[in-house]
Amino acid sequence: MIFQKCIACGEKYDADEIIYSCKRCGDILDVKYDYDLIEAKIKKSNWQNLPLSVWRYRDFMPIRDPSKIVSLDEGGTGLHSCQCLGNTLGVKHLYVKNEGENPTGSFKDRGMTVGVTKALELNIKTVICASTGNTSASLAAYAAKAGLQCIILIPSGKIAYGKLAQAMIYGARVVQIRGNFDNALKMVLELSGKHREVYLLNSINPYRLEGQKSLAFEICDQLKRESPDRVILPVGNAGNISAIWKGFTEFHKLGLIEKLPKMTGIQAEGAAPIAQAIKDGKDEIVPLENPETVATAIRIGAPVSWKKALRAIRESDGTAETVTDEEILEAQKMLARSEGLFVEPASASSIAGLKKLLEVGKIGKDEIVVCVTTGHGLKDPDIAIKISEKPSEVNAEIESIEKLLGLTRTISVPVVSR
Ligand code: F0G
Repeated sequence: MIFQKCIACGEKYDADEIIYSCKRCGDILDVKYDYDLIEAKIKKSNWQNLPLSVWRYRDFMPIRDPSKIVSLDEGGTGLHSCQCLGNTLGVKHLYVKNEGENPTGSFKDRGMTVGVTKALELNIKTVICASTGNTSASLAAYAAKAGLQCIILIPSGKIAYGKLAQAMIYGARVVQIRGNFDNALKMVLELSGKHREVYLLNSINPYRLEGQKSLAFEICDQLKRESPDRVILPVGNAGNISAIWKGFTEFHKLGLIEKLPKMTGIQAEGAAPIAQAIKDGKDEIVPLENPETVATAIRIGAPVSWKKALRAIRESDGTAETVTDEEILEAQKMLARSEGLFVEPASASSIAGLKKLLEVGKIGKDEIVVCVTTGHGLKDPDIAIKISEKPSEVNAEIESIEKLLGLTRTISVPVVSR
């Protein structure tokens, strides 16, 4: 038995009701299961022999009809042991879960494979989202694969070029809004409420978050059913931190892991309503009118899943921190140069946050830490070029290149005759 339930008043809704917020109190919804049924299912199924991917965890997903699954082979991303960076930062066990390895280059694909499959189960023909870039890239790809119409609303001039290119090439109807992400989200909420045939796939749709919880399952399986002590990730609209926490709690409920990690959310200083509420010990956030950060993916002032995120952080005994744009870009370079992992600025905020929390002693050096890097570096090539040393240019002559590289002294190798 699967159903939807309001996170505030507990009102229940049928699994197939197209609804994005509670009719009684207006709060957001969660997908609920009968865990005894899941337990019975996983005892009989061969899920543990399947390759690491979102659909390895099919028994934990709210999909009835496997023939409807829309997949681009998402999930199964690397959990990279980052000894060198760990040594530099002063933590013994550091892993990076690199979500840029997903088909469209971000963690959103985990959500979209489930969300778009649900759309097919509901016989939907058109999907819509607002986005800072990655959600739109992912939805456009999965809609293309599923043969659905796709409408995307983005903040004009404020999304990274790689992401815009993706949405356009996958054939979505792209509409630029003269406003920010929060304005765009308001518009799609209204549109999908008014025009019921247009299905909303922002993270307010709880089915999308069901796919994203697979990230937690994978971490547990990659660590041989150990849970890390701490999971650190960037927070924007706050769906992902909520989804990952749900994943860990479900594995725990089913007896698949013994302990739970501390969820640690990182926000950019200019867009940090959740981190601020945690710091102030408040139960509500104060939304920002004009969020600003170089990490455009998380340039969000009124995160829709703020309540779920505050719960995840507090229930897990975690924390939240802010980082400056400078710290984000420094961390982006550091990760690329010490571990060979090129991630977009928003993703690097998890590393910047780890650095800061280690420095102030809020994270212990013996903790097993997993930083989630949410999107690929090539999504935002302009930033990478801007913050790196410029390439040199010389004529195509050996002498010029030798001079440039300081390879002027030639070493003569003695010829050995036998
Ligand atoms: N990292 C990246 C690279 C993102 O694209 C996003 C969100 C986040 C982190 C934050 O995740 O919203 O679940 O807290 N991007 C959305 C988008 C808003 O439209 O692509 P969150």
